[in-house]
Amino acid sequence: MDYMETKRRSNLTKKIVLAAALSALLIFMIKRSPSTYVSTKFSEHEEGVTHVLVTGGAGYIGSHAVLRLLKDKYRVTIVDNLSRGNMGAVKILQENFPEAGRLQFIYADLGDAASVNKIFSENAFDAVMHFAAVAYVGESTAEPLRYYHNITSNTLIIVKAMAAHGVKTLIYSSTCATYGEPKTMPIVENTTQLPINPYGKAKKMAEDIIIDYSKTSNMAVMILRYFNVIGSDPDGRLGEAPRPELREQGRISGACFDAARGIIPGLKVRGTDYGTKDGTCVRDYIDVTDLIDAHVKALAHAKPGKVGIYNVGTGKGSSVKEFVEACKKATGVNIKVDYLDRRAGDYAEVYSDPSKIFNELNWKAKYTNLQESLAVAWRWQKAHINGYEN
Ligand SMILES: NC(=O)c1ccc[n+]([C@@H]2O[C@H](COP(=O)([O-])OP(=O)(O)OC[C@H]3O[C@@H](n4cnc5c(N)ncnc54)[C@H](O)[C@@H]3O)[C@@H](O)[C@H]2O)c1
Repeated sequence: MDYMETKRRSNLTKKIVLAAALSALLIFMIKRSPSTYVSTKFSEHEEGVTHVLVTGGAGYIGSHAVLRLLKDKYRVTIVDNLSRGNMGAVKILQENFPEAGRLQFIYADLGDAASVNKIFSENAFDAVMHFAAVAYVGESTAEPLRYYHNITSNTLIIVKAMAAHGVKTLIYSSTCATYGEPKTMPIVENTTQLPINPYGKAKKMAEDIIIDYSKTSNMAVMILRYFNVIGSDPDGRLGEAPRPELREQGRISGACFDAARGIIPGLKVRGTDYGTKDGTCVRDYIDVTDLIDAHVKALAHAKPGKVGIYNVGTGKGSSVKEFVEACKKATGVNIKVDYLDRRAGDYAEVYSDPSKIFNELNWKAKYTNLQESLAVAWRWQKAHINGYEN
């Protein structure tokens, strides 16, 4: 080996050592950086694109909201811990909107403040639709702490993260359960809220947190108090698929379909001695397509520093007996019905006056025929015997 060759090798070794040292330094710096993430369309604000964080977007109502938002050209991030939602619904949304920068799914628990903060620091949200919640009246009376934690405390975490990261618009999923059992019907937005079960109380406390914070901030807030939600996507892409173990807690539409499919022997109607037209409970059933339309209108009308509170219902009460008859016709099955004693925490009659949302947001329920809404939902149920596992 001559002198020149030795020198060339020694230079090469020096270069390799220097490159290795620089790479190590770079890796060290990246690892130490608190915001290590790859910049994506979701992490930057984009002129003309509204990026909505949909919590609970794998659930029944949240997934329908995501579908509508994507159809309307919004950018959507779903955050869900899949405790009650379905990854199958998310997959269908992803298949329908595969383009980059349209939809991302983040698996996280909203009770984990550090994770929530990380999500907010890595994504440029313009608005939040906060659907995620446990949402069964009966379960809430049996497990109140779970409800206060999941609904009230998690909403506090979301609002704090929005404040810390400058996200200025919130659409909140509230419920007619916050009113309890008012003496006069229909319910208007300033009917006194006296909830009678932990679910309604937890939602009322979450509303209070949001309203109090809004007084000290410039946040644009819309609180939507839904009545009883039914139906599904008219094009049959999404449906309502609660976990089998929640069937007992479940809502009347799910029970009706399960009875029609023979999964359960029949329907159990709890309470026939309420002071209503036929003794069974009266509810205001709102189609999910209408409900989501109310969210999109609420988002469009949200104003900084203002809180809009709206009932989202049809304004018409239907009894459980009427519901069961509509369900029999929609499914074509003569469902067996057992009449049982009242269930703790239920209230007799609840229906809305939806005129405020009509006057201020120009929203009105269009799908008000129970049998038709149930027929749409039944089509999905029949085609998805095992829910999204089909
Ligand atoms: N379904 C109704 O009739 C009705 C009526 C009034 C109000 N609401 C409200 O609408 C919202 C949506 O209800 P739904 O019927 O779609 O319920 P759902 O159970 O189908 O969906 C809720 C979603 O939130 C997710 N979730 C729950 N806790 C979470 C947590 N800690 N972190 C992350 N994700 C979590 C679940 O996995 C699920 O995907 C709820 O806030 C509920 O209170 C529903």
